[in-house]
Parts: sequence; structure tokens; C-alpha cells
Amino acid sequence: MSHGRFQNPFQATLTGLRDLFGRQQLADRLTDDLRVDGRTCLVTGASSGLGLAIATELARRGGRVRMVSRSRIPAAGEAVRRATGSTEVEQLRADLSDLRQVHGLADELRDRGETIDVLVDNAGVATPRARRTAQGLDAMFVTNMLSKVLLAHRLLRDGTIPNATFAGNARPGEPKPRMLYVSSDSHRGASAIDWEELGTYYDYGVNKGIHNYSYFKLVLNTFAVELSRRLACGGEVDVAVHVMCPGPVDSEIARDAPPGLALFMKAMFKVFFRKPEVAAGPAVYMSVAPGYGERTGEYLHMWNPKRMDEKCYDAEEGVRLWEHTEGLLREHGAWSWGE
Ligand SMILES: NC(=O)c1ccc[n+]([C@@H]2O[C@H](COP(=O)([O-])OP(=O)(O)OC[C@H]3O[C@@H](n4cnc5c(N)ncnc54)[C@H](OP(=O)(O)O)[C@@H]3O)[C@@H](O)[C@H]2O)c1
Repeated sequence: MSHGRFQNPFQATLTGLRDLFGRQQLADRLTDDLRVDGRTCLVTGASSGLGLAIATELARRGGRVRMVSRSRIPAAGEAVRRATGSTEVEQLRADLSDLRQVHGLADELRDRGETIDVLVDNAGVATPRARRTAQGLDAMFVTNMLSKVLLAHRLLRDGTIPNATFAGNARPGEPKPRMLYVSSDSHRGASAIDWEELGTYYDYGVNKGIHNYSYFKLVLNTFAVELSRRLACGGEVDVAVHVMCPGPVDSEIARDAPPGLALFMKAMFKVFFRKPEVAAGPAVYMSVAPGYGERTGEYLHMWNPKRMDEKCYDAEEGVRLWEHTEGLLREHGAWSWGE
């Protein structure tokens, strides 16, 4: 059984409220001179909430922005273009809960010859009950975790994110590419990875769904730390990998909750939680601030640098997760590489 800081939707909302009143160490660091002119930024989950706000701010700072989502095409892209005056904004359609569509997205980027300088893998859902994907996996597990593993493998092995480790196409003298995972501080205290259960489909209801949300973020963070180790294995950063939690955001994240609960959460979010444009600040900062290209494996909870839950740094668990996710992708026909 997985546990995190969140045990039910009410506690999740209250924990979010508590986070709002803490100290925000780096809040004044995101200055207007931090720009990503001409650099290509791929933002998943960019049709609403935090991802839309991140995409908008990266476009405002000169980025060529590629927005991934299932819906609001072309509306979300037009909104970004309108808000920023940028013409370098495109939308890509992919349902990231379907592993074939993750491959489709990576194929499209590779075939166009895109080079991704900044990946913000932000897409996420909080499903109140189990939902089966096209491959028979749990939709929240795939959207919030396994799709990110597959996308990372594809972008790195294809060299779409230039790197020496997997593709041998690093660009000496250029700023290091970076990969940022939008997670949640709710991962803190989630129980250790259950290797028997991870990736198996089973039914669950609202409370277990809340547990799983936190738990899959713990699993995601463990993957991100392992990826950061593999992308800096000679001691020098090849590609920087970071994790962040935006804190409580007034977004669409509770859209799948049962109607009464969704109404309650929407009202609480509206009144108390931060607007996406404000909550996006730390993710934008990690995407553009020069230091985060030179260092790797860091975590920001809102504007505060912290360590993640210690379990995320366990190197043996990291290796085991790397192999376990490869096995899952293989089992579901989504692994395109040899042994
Ligand atoms: N809201 C919070 O308080 C909070 C707190 C901590 C962390 N977070 C994290 O922040 C991230 C963004 O969430 P949000 O709060 O901004 O929620 P949101 O408004 O619901 O946005 C979620 C985004 O993910 C996309 N998405 C969901 N399922 C997808 C799928 N199968 N394929 C492709 N895209 C998919 C959605 O686009 P489409 O529906 O168009 O596909 C949407 O753009 C998530 O990772 C979440 O866990 C949120």
C-alpha cells in the first residue's frame, strides 16, 4: 500500500494551503534578462493550468515552444501566440497515456529534425479511479510516469535532445540541454516502490487514487534521479535533469473527481490556490537560469531548493527502476531497442 503526504482529497487540499504560507527562498531570482532566445522548448500538458503558463512564459522569453496535449488545439497555441506576440509556437497532439502515441510524438520530432534544448515534462492527471489504457495499463501510472520514461528514452536515443551518453551528438560550446520533471511534494513519505505491483493494473477508488498520485510522483522522482546520474556519469553534466513541485495551483487537475468533490475542490482552488502564471515561476526559472544547465539532480519545491524524499536517491532502487520500466515497455510492445 502506498502512502504519501496526501491520504484523501481534503487532506491534499489542506496540505496545499499550508505550503502557500511557507518561506520562498528564490522567489526574486526570475528576472526579465533570463531568456531562451531561439532555443526549442517542449512542454507536455501545455493545454491548461501550469503547462500552459510555462509555455506562455517560455515563449515570452524568446523560446521556440512546442506544446503537447490531447485537447485545446489550436486554442491553447493561439492563446500563447496572442499573449506573447511570438510566432514560434506550435502544438502537437498526443495522448501520453497511450505508449504508441508517445512513440508517434517522438517520431514526429525526429522526422522534422527538431532539436529540443529544454524539455518540461509536465503532463499529469489525478484520476479518482483506475482507468485502463490502450495497452491495458493504469492511465495515471502511464501519464504521470511511464510515458515520461519512454519519452526520455526516445528523445535521448534519437538525439532529439543532443547528448553524448545515448546518441553521441552533444554540442560542445552550446548550453547543456535540460530536462525538467513537474512532480509534487506529495511524494514525500510515499512508501517504497512495490516491485510486485508496479505496472500491474488493478481497480481503485478515490482515496487509493490520491495515494497513487503521490506514489507515482515518488517513482517518477526516483527515475529522474537515476536519469540524472546516467547523464552525468563521468562527473560532467551531459544533459541536466531536475525535478520541481509548483505547490498548490488553481488548475484543472481535479477535473476527473466525482461531481460534488470536484465542485468543492474547484471552489477551494479558485479562492486559495495560486494562479498558474504565478505557480509556473520556479519551473520557468529552472528552464532558463544558466546554473541549472551546469548542475543536475536538483529539486525545487515552489521556490525552495530541497532534497526530495531520501528514497528517491537510492542508487540500487534507481537501477532497478530503470530495468523494471524497460521490462514493462518491452512487455507492452513499446521498447524499440535491443538488449
Ligand atoms: N494543481 C496542483 O495543485 C499541482 C500541485 C503539484 C503538482 N502538480 C502537477 O502539475 C502538473 C500540471 O498539472 P495542472 O495542475 O496544471 O493540471 P491541468 O490543468 O489538469 O493540466 C494537465 C495537463 O496535462 C495534460 N494531459 C493530461 N493527460 C494527458 C494525456 N493523457 N496526454 C497528454 N496530455 C495530457 C492536459 O492536457 P489535455 O487534457 O489537453 O491532454 C493538461 O494540459 C501535473 O504533473 C501535476 O501533477 C499540480
